[in-house]
Amino acid sequence: MAIKAIKGINDILPDVVGKWQLVESVARRIFSNFNFQEIRIPILEKTELFARSIGETTDIVEKEMYTFPDRNGQLLTLRPEATASVVRAFIEHKLHLQPAMRKFYTMGPMFRHERPQKGRYRQFHQINVEVFAMDDPMVDAEVIYMLLVFLEALKIPDIKLHINSMGCPDCRLPFRQSLADYLEGVSDKLCADCKRRRLTNPLRIFDCKVDSCGKLVENAPVLLDHLCHECEKNFQGVRDHLDSLAVAYTIDPFMVRGLDYYTRTTFEAITPHLGAQDAVGGGGRYDGLMKALGGPDLPGTGFAIGMERLILLLDDKAGAATDSHNLFVACLGEEAKKKGFSLVQELRLSGLSVEMDYESKSLKAQMRRADKLDATHVLILGDDELAKGAALLRDMDASTQEEISLKKIVEELLQRFKLEM
Ligand code: HAM
Repeated sequence: MAIKAIKGINDILPDVVGKWQLVESVARRIFSNFNFQEIRIPILEKTELFARSIGETTDIVEKEMYTFPDRNGQLLTLRPEATASVVRAFIEHKLHLQPAMRKFYTMGPMFRHERPQKGRYRQFHQINVEVFAMDDPMVDAEVIYMLLVFLEALKIPDIKLHINSMGCPDCRLPFRQSLADYLEGVSDKLCADCKRRRLTNPLRIFDCKVDSCGKLVENAPVLLDHLCHECEKNFQGVRDHLDSLAVAYTIDPFMVRGLDYYTRTTFEAITPHLGAQDAVGGGGRYDGLMKALGGPDLPGTGFAIGMERLILLLDDKAGAATDSHNLFVACLGEEAKKKGFSLVQELRLSGLSVEMDYESKSLKAQMRRADKLDATHVLILGDDELAKGAALLRDMDASTQEEISLKKIVEELLQRFKLEM
């Protein structure tokens, strides 16, 4: 039996790769305008990195990580997200000593063992953005603004921005107590997971997908009502800056995000077009993370966008090939084929997209293939033409053909296709 790919881990076939390339190039262009630099980080890390940053009692760490011992018995994990790795790299390479390196982006595959469905996969791709050592609320607003500018550039429709504040350890501690008190009163109505979460990490109850827990959570105290003065001021600052950039948002006190490292402002970009998987991207501030991972005490903020979700939301025609200078070289006869073979390489080196047929098929069959490949022109090379030092160039749209000399064929084609010599 043929071997199939793993459930939830998908191929990306050439007919959609144009969309992926579009998303990547728009990200690079916009992020570079905002002065972000690309960083590339490993896919495999020590398990401890994720357990310590995302949080031991989050769903991601408890249930979703691909973790295994390597041949030396060291516990490794396929990265479920990128923030932890970017922070680790920043600490490891002492980038805080290089003031030019504060704003990073990275793209690539992440792995979470979730139940696959539309918009949710076990290998998925993120575009990830992180900013370090800047705690002004203006930076939060700017990062959110950049996310929206990016989604707008890709014409993603009907995006709604939700924001919340996760406070700081000072306000979280007393809040945790009042939440624990509330949950104690309703503990017999909680699902089995939430019964456990109530004691280990009560805030995670807000993530629970079980309907009955959702109802209980609606009446639970929320962190937003328990912010300390500084966090309150900071959140107001972010909102003022968002207002000044004319960014519309909804304050969502129940949005806690699934990772424990967040502090202060968090956000999600939500779409109504993807069913249950409605977050196109999300992020927030994580001011204690770098210190907790053994680095300098520098704040951080950022976001990640789910690329598969973006691709699902793109217009059908987005990313379709636009350059239409495809040339097919049809050869008739052994000599012509040999000449054609070297000519094809020369034309490719000159910047043209060229294909030929290697199977010595009839001219009709070669023309059919040229058509399938959307060739705009076919260069017909027969032993007779070759003897005259010429070839026939057929314009597929106009259905016209003319003889051109082989001597200056490269220059001639480049000129016709208006490509630089
Ligand atoms: P996250 O909310 O876990 O945040 O993931 C960000 C985005 O990745 C989601 O909004 C969603 O679009 C996409 N995503 C997550 N899981 C899946 C999945 N199983 N299949 C398809 N797409 C998925 C983070 O990962 C944080 N590291 C973001 C961040 C960066 N916060 C600060 N800096």
